[in-house]
Amino acid sequence: MSEIPKRTQVTIIGGGPAGSLLAHLLHLEGIESVILELRTRQHVLERVRAGVIEHGSAEVLREAGLGNRMDQEGFIHEGVNLAFDERLIRIDFMGLVGKYVIIYGQTELQKDLYQAIETGIIPLVDEAVGIEIHDVGGDRPSISFLRQGNRHALDCDFVVGCDGVHGITRDYIPKSLVQSFERTYPFVWVGVLSSSPPVADELIYANHETGFALCSMRNKQLSRYYVQGSADDQIEDWPDDRFWEALKTRLPQGVSERLVTGPTIEKLVTPLHSWVAEPMSFRRLFLAGDAAHVVPPTGAKGLNLAISDVVYLAEALADHYRTGSMTGLDSYSKAALARVWRAVRFSWWMTTMMHDFSGMADDFDRRLQRTELEYLAASENARRAMAEGYVGPSV
Ligand code: FAD
Ligand code: DHB
Repeated sequence: MSEIPKRTQVTIIGGGPAGSLLAHLLHLEGIESVILELRTRQHVLERVRAGVIEHGSAEVLREAGLGNRMDQEGFIHEGVNLAFDERLIRIDFMGLVGKYVIIYGQTELQKDLYQAIETGIIPLVDEAVGIEIHDVGGDRPSISFLRQGNRHALDCDFVVGCDGVHGITRDYIPKSLVQSFERTYPFVWVGVLSSSPPVADELIYANHETGFALCSMRNKQLSRYYVQGSADDQIEDWPDDRFWEALKTRLPQGVSERLVTGPTIEKLVTPLHSWVAEPMSFRRLFLAGDAAHVVPPTGAKGLNLAISDVVYLAEALADHYRTGSMTGLDSYSKAALARVWRAVRFSWWMTTMMHDFSGMADDFDRRLQRTELEYLAASENARRAMAEGYVGPSV
């Protein structure tokens, strides 16, 4: 980072997918921004996370000039599969709603975003620590922070919190105005990135009496698998042998017979919870992505919500700088939350249908779970509703 600016139009706190895409979209509208990121660039680029890009998100990325590598190296998936009782139900997205999703790792998307930021010469200040926002309720907010021991100040018109679930920006919305909604699930996902060919061409979400499993992928030689673990499980509780054994048990035999195991490149344990903080704005501060809401990963929605939030926000900021109007910015929170809640509902529905809630659920819940899966197997309308939820709305 050559010189850290002292003034900009929009300060973006957090340089993950939400923050870096917002900076790029603003740049396309001729609006200046500065990104302040806590971690090093390398750390952000190496994080392994999401894999599913919704149809509408893919269109946004293409329109923003970010689709080339996604279209060359990503995989179009026209359906997903649900497994239970040795059966596979295919949800045919293309046939049912005429849309698809793209399998393209968040790690790759983050590279494309940082490349665009470099090309646009958008200042990205990494290792920015101790960020404080001043005068957030006034017309001229400012930010102070430390980098490599030196204190810096940045004046701006607007501040956007894209600093994820552990961020600090949402604490600047007065507590008396905030309402939080939360649901914690009594289990975790244990995820593995493995250098082995994927077990199937499409994703498989499996419901089994011993727990949930998910087969995903990154490319023809790189598989991504997840299994449900207990709420207090740590990585050490899941040596490779245990992981592969659990995965095999939870898949239909016809699938598990084809499973090729391989060296584990990365392993993580991730909790499942849903959490939404309303509103997503206060005066000149706006929140986007995981800074404002988190969903369990079952519906593959988190990254896609980060993308749709910043599309709404970039449009509202562009309208403001064009016309001076605050109308779009004032309605940002309401518009974004309408979409967020649809994703929260979908993620809750898929999580509830696919996981083992033993200890929490009774026989009544188990019968309902089974009935839901049977309904999907039997009814094209039910499958269409799931397809619509999975591929997501237009952005
Ligand atoms: P983040 O990616 O968390 O970025 C926030 C950034 O802010 C980080 O770079 C962080 O270092 C920085 N930051 C934090 N605190 C500060 C601070 N104080 N000051 C400055 N910077 C700060 N989503 C999907 O859509 N599809 C999927 O298939 C999917 N699968 C997932 C699988 C797993 C295992 C996990 C963990 C998540 C998955 N998600 C998925 C969710 C998705 O990864 C997140 O929703 C997405 O990363 C949100 O982007 P974001 O930019 O809002 O937040
Ligand atoms: C992946 C992650 C998810 O949460 C999901 O629902 C589907 C795929 C993945 O990492 O590939």
